[in-house]
Amino acid sequence: MGMVITIDGPAASGKSSVSRELARRLGWQWVSTGAFYRGLAFAALQLQIDLDDVKSLTDLTHNPVWSVRMEHDRTKVFFKDQDVTDLIAHEDVGNFASKVSHYPEVRKALLEAQRNCSSGPQGLVAEGRDCGTVVFPEAEAKVYLTANSEHRAARRAAELGLAQDDMVKAQQQRDHQDSTRKVAPMTVPDDALVVDTTALNLEQVVDKVVEYVKNKI
Ligand code: DC
Repeated sequence: MGMVITIDGPAASGKSSVSRELARRLGWQWVSTGAFYRGLAFAALQLQIDLDDVKSLTDLTHNPVWSVRMEHDRTKVFFKDQDVTDLIAHEDVGNFASKVSHYPEVRKALLEAQRNCSSGPQGLVAEGRDCGTVVFPEAEAKVYLTANSEHRAARRAAELGLAQDDMVKAQQQRDHQDSTRKVAPMTVPDDALVVDTTALNLEQVVDKVVEYVKNKI
């Protein structure tokens, strides 16, 4: 396994932008582990698999009908050879992803594919909810990003062209689901640097993170 830096945190806390820029500065790869849950939820919806049917969802984790591919600018998801990366970005797919992510069987089945992302010659920046606690507990450096919920909702609403009020509610529900689930709940890793991104721009957050990780790698 190569070197790994993990970036965890709630919805729209800036994880993807920060991970992408950090990986660019380090010349490393990056992966959004949320893409695995979003991809699975999207494939289940397309194939009309009930989101309560744990057995079929678990079987679907290994079905080549959908796949995840790391690229420098995005973690892409393909369904039936179509690039569905834009489609899985919708908040409703995020909510379905949060629902399927509750099942221990599903999490376990996706773990190996997520860990395999670190098998290349470069280091890896891995972002999600449990990257520092479960997926890569031995990571060289761990970061946890937060931001106040209005700020996060405004950020994501602007990205998706939606109303901010609806987004606050949707994200609060998703954060609640993700932090209260029994298996691998979203939580701050013991040894993580915590950065509140509310009043910072991307450059400032990445500067802080680079300053922190440079002594660790
Ligand atoms: O980071 P994201 O918004 O793309 O993640 C979508 C959902 O996937 C999130 O609400 C919960 C789940 N998820 C998870 O349980 N563990 C991760 N490491 C990443 C995402």
